[in-house]
Amino acid sequence: MRIRLFVASIVALWGCSAAQVATPDAGSDAAVVADAALAVTYNKDVAPIIQTRCQTCHTEGGIAPFALSTFAHARNMAGAIVEETGAKRMPPWGARETAECTPPLPWKDDERLSDAQIATIKAWVDGGMIEGNPADLPPPKVPTKIELATPSIELVPTSSYTPIGTKDQFRCFVLDPQITERQFLNGSYFVPGNPKIVHHALLFTDPKRESLKKAKVGESYDCFGGPGINTNALLGAWAPGARPQEFPANAGTPIEPNTLFVMQVHYHPHEGVMAPDTTRVQLRYMAGGGLPTYFGYAFLQGNFVKEVTDGTGLLSGPDDPATGVSFEIPAGSTKHTETMVFTVPEQLRGVAMPTLHLATIGAHMHYVGVDEKIWIERKDGTSQCLLQEPAWNFNWQRGYTYDGDIDKLPTLNAGDKVKLRCTYDNSVANRFVVDALKQQGLTAPQTVKLGETTLDEMCLGAFQVLFKLF
Ligand code: HEC
Repeated sequence: MRIRLFVASIVALWGCSAAQVATPDAGSDAAVVADAALAVTYNKDVAPIIQTRCQTCHTEGGIAPFALSTFAHARNMAGAIVEETGAKRMPPWGARETAECTPPLPWKDDERLSDAQIATIKAWVDGGMIEGNPADLPPPKVPTKIELATPSIELVPTSSYTPIGTKDQFRCFVLDPQITERQFLNGSYFVPGNPKIVHHALLFTDPKRESLKKAKVGESYDCFGGPGINTNALLGAWAPGARPQEFPANAGTPIEPNTLFVMQVHYHPHEGVMAPDTTRVQLRYMAGGGLPTYFGYAFLQGNFVKEVTDGTGLLSGPDDPATGVSFEIPAGSTKHTETMVFTVPEQLRGVAMPTLHLATIGAHMHYVGVDEKIWIERKDGTSQCLLQEPAWNFNWQRGYTYDGDIDKLPTLNAGDKVKLRCTYDNSVANRFVVDALKQQGLTAPQTVKLGETTLDEMCLGAFQVLFKLF
């Protein structure tokens, strides 16, 4: 092993590949050198992985706290890199296959490393972090500007926001798209103003213009958890690394005239970063003015506190609905679960429920949550897991889009039951609980209930469906 490493580093110093200095056939010296050609090097094996999978965030001025732009950067962080990639915490990607959940399709734009890539990084570190042949180093990746193609409108807050201190902050910006005739939203994308501190962003409709009670158009208000208005349409979600959200060309979400939008931005300021942020949102409406073949619709379900008598929702799990005590997570409990059930109704606004094709799905809890699973139990007795996030991380919530044509997407039909199981760890073993308590000046875990603030909890699913009405 030592000899191989030695040969490899000599080769690296020479700046030429082992293949050039030896023929890889018999003869013991030649064989040793040939092995060096197979050694994992930064330039040949690791840099391409880091460029494509890490540098979206780990770059100068990026959201991650350090850059991974050079060999020296990677070598300095090598131990942590092996640990984070081995534990599948980096790159951040919450949707996983587990023993109890295999989603029906792969995910679009899946950011995860393959097991082979994880093994390559580990082999590079175990092998002594060889830099390798400079000729193998891929040219630096020019950061591509990710934007929505042909946006119809771009909404920009008139007042920027400057997070103060290092606490996480949640601001809701009131935006007016000035829609006078119904439009069909076909694509959306958030352009973070200050990517160092914007941790995620969500766009909600405000059809009743309720947000105006909290701030003027273009301005913002504090809003942990949700926008605090009557909306159930989540139009878009963004987290670092996310691409524009786009429907097929013949699909769109109706937006009624006079609707306002509320953009919630989660700021995660670092030490000393207090620059203002103006995050923009780009929207594309369907061209032509006609009706789409498929309607796109996003909705949130869950957060049921008691049995819903019309059969649309029901609380089960360890809480006893009879006592009226529901959705309460005892202080110190480590494996508390809440299970939400909703039944797909028979009718949708007076017409028979069409088949809903599930395009994108996301989970939502706060800091006490550790695992969320969403599955469907169909009327015909079959069941299908849709999503599990077994290492829930509030900081990395996003929607996950199935990679498949409309006719391959999982479907929801009248009478099917969609179930959400949320698991919570309300003890000091949960580092997010410790942080949330600290933010409140507390140290001991508190009883947590359903609600909107940092130390409250939720159990929600976000669903984006496509359906044909005609
Ligand atoms: C989507 C953005 C993003 C991507 C992609 C990403 N990281 Fe990170 N990484 C972060 C952020 C932000 C942090 C700071 C901790 C946090 O907020 O979770 C971080 C933290 C880390 C840490 C330090 C963890 C600790 O706390 O000790 C390591 C190591 C790391 N990333 C390695 C990687 C590697 C290697 C890749 C690619 C294989 C990668 N990251 C991809 C955003 C990202």
